Amino acid sequence: MSADHEIENLLHEERHFAPSAEFAKQAIAKPSLYEEAKTDRLGFWAKQARKLHWHKPFTQTLDWSNPPFAKWFADGQLNISYNCLDRHVEAGNGDRTAIFFEGEPGDSKEITYAELTRQVKKTANALIDLGIKPGDRVAIYLPMIPEAVIAMQAVARIGAVHSVIFGGFSAESLSSRIEDAEAKLVITADGGFRKGKASALKPAVDEALSAGKCASVKNVLVVRRTNQDVDWVEGRDVEWSQAVGEASDEHEAKPFDAEHPLFILYTSGTTGKPKGILHTSGGYLTQAAYTHKNVFDLHADSDVYWCTADIGWITGHSYVAYGPLANGASQVIYEGTPETPDWGRWWSIVQKYGVSILYTAPTAIRSFMKLGSQIPNEYNLETIRVLGSVGEPINPEAWMWYRKHIGGSHAPIMDTWWQTETGAIMVSPLPGITTLKPGSAQHPLPGIEAEVLDDEGNVLGRGHAGLLVLTEPWPSMLRGIWKDPERFKETYWSKFEGQYFAGDGAKWDEEGDLWLLGRVDDVMNVSGHRLSTAEIESALVSHHYVAEAAVVGAKDETTGQAVVAFVILRQNQLDAAGSDADVSKILRDHVSKEIGPIARPRTIIVVKELPKTRSGKIMRRLLRDVAEDRPIGDVTTLADTSVMDLISGKLSAGASD
Ligand code: WTA
Repeated sequence: MSADHEIENLLHEERHFAPSAEFAKQAIAKPSLYEEAKTDRLGFWAKQARKLHWHKPFTQTLDWSNPPFAKWFADGQLNISYNCLDRHVEAGNGDRTAIFFEGEPGDSKEITYAELTRQVKKTANALIDLGIKPGDRVAIYLPMIPEAVIAMQAVARIGAVHSVIFGGFSAESLSSRIEDAEAKLVITADGGFRKGKASALKPAVDEALSAGKCASVKNVLVVRRTNQDVDWVEGRDVEWSQAVGEASDEHEAKPFDAEHPLFILYTSGTTGKPKGILHTSGGYLTQAAYTHKNVFDLHADSDVYWCTADIGWITGHSYVAYGPLANGASQVIYEGTPETPDWGRWWSIVQKYGVSILYTAPTAIRSFMKLGSQIPNEYNLETIRVLGSVGEPINPEAWMWYRKHIGGSHAPIMDTWWQTETGAIMVSPLPGITTLKPGSAQHPLPGIEAEVLDDEGNVLGRGHAGLLVLTEPWPSMLRGIWKDPERFKETYWSKFEGQYFAGDGAKWDEEGDLWLLGRVDDVMNVSGHRLSTAEIESALVSHHYVAEAAVVGAKDETTGQAVVAFVILRQNQLDAAGSDADVSKILRDHVSKEIGPIARPRTIIVVKELPKTRSGKIMRRLLRDVAEDRPIGDVTTLADTSVMDLISGKLSAGASD
């Protein structure tokens, strides 16, 4: 935890924002939640779970007899999609808008709960016609269009398991995820609109399935969004408009066990191979719904909620596809990027739909902040009453800007800490209750138990930085890593016996507020997206120019961290490779192609040697010093102490990209 001086500054944060009496009065969350959960944690979760509809009520809340394999509400049965759709229609809310869709080119569509239910039923029937059975895996590779949510809900409705793959991932990443999950069907689109143009998706699917790869895939279901020309494989490819259009709109949601698998979502770990995080049904939906309602103070009959996350990430699962629908919320879904046609787009959407709850990431806030407040000031944002932040620590400066310029100096900001693995929000203030402090995620939610430990597992009190652990199981916890129970145990449960190690540094301040200090492992956080150093290194060495590569995350003003790669070229490629600038471009493009544009290194530095210990371990700490332009730390454990002079000399000679 090298940022100690910064932590000390943060701890001197003296700005506090207490909720107004007016807000507190109408707030959904009551202070009694904390007491209830403290007194009887399992009873508390059972009560939250009972807010869902159970076809067969559960009698047992938690089975933790075989840790770390938890079972929640195990003898109960429910249907996820029934809970998100049919029950609202049956309760008389069929006319409520479920989705306000805004396409990037400016087309828009309003979909009521009744219509969304109908579409999901038709899609469920289409999937059944394609031979999809409970437990089968379906890969989803779609832009942010209503069909993305419809597809997820339909897969869940019939008890199949979805694996959503972010549209920004390459064909390579797509095929390794499809193969790992042995998906039977891929749902995709011709393309989507991004940055003012049609951006293709189907070609990546075709490439992912080419040359005998992904043999498990029987069909590809294709939504037409951009009407680009696409290649068509007869017998394999199926038009969504035809399959779904012609399917019956009658479909009864059947109950599944609470522990029936709901989805796999791949995320970066500390090795080159992404992990398929597995989530199941009852516990996941319980906590997604509970947190969505309480953390955002959702008043479903009057709020307009907008989470800007893509369905390719966990935030798009829990806080677009599931939580809001379980709560009967009306939500905005926007297809495109924030700068199209200009940087006022988001604020024009807020104004158009009267968005009252906005949930986004610090990286976006910092981008807006850099451009100045005059852009949001041109729009009417008065409807906003609650703000959320997720994905990385939000620096107090960005927090203050967000509150003032987006939140009209009154909207409370919920800084929510959680992970793909936790499934739902774990640490966050509660609106109307918590006195807010810029930059701190503040408290574990009612029902969640967290501690900060030192390396030996001792509990640290206030004022000491250490490692964040979750000390008790929670309903939306991951149930494992797909096909890899050993890695599941090893990654999360072996460092501290019986406790979940999150991989994040944290510290309670003197007032008992929790500060998140970033990853302590080789996982980077670029624009709120997780990337592993190992994954990018293996992409780099897969290029024939590269003999060795070391990747570090360096501080970046906008993206939080940026990917900086140090590479050693193969001797016999030096002539072919050309200048450092050429090499840099080629390798950046290569990583983008191998993993996806989000992994594209910001900087590539060609070096002759990498700093290694005598046992051959790369000392990333030193590379991070170089990447962040700091004086280089202790080099005495290096096998060759002159290496760092060479590297930093190289950098000051201007070889970086
Ligand atoms: C980081 C995203 C500080 C953290 C939901 C975590 C945060 C990783 C916050 C998970 C926050 C997320 N404050 N750090 N409010 N939210 N993180 O799996 O390092 O994409 O471990 O889930 O993001 O990223 P993931």
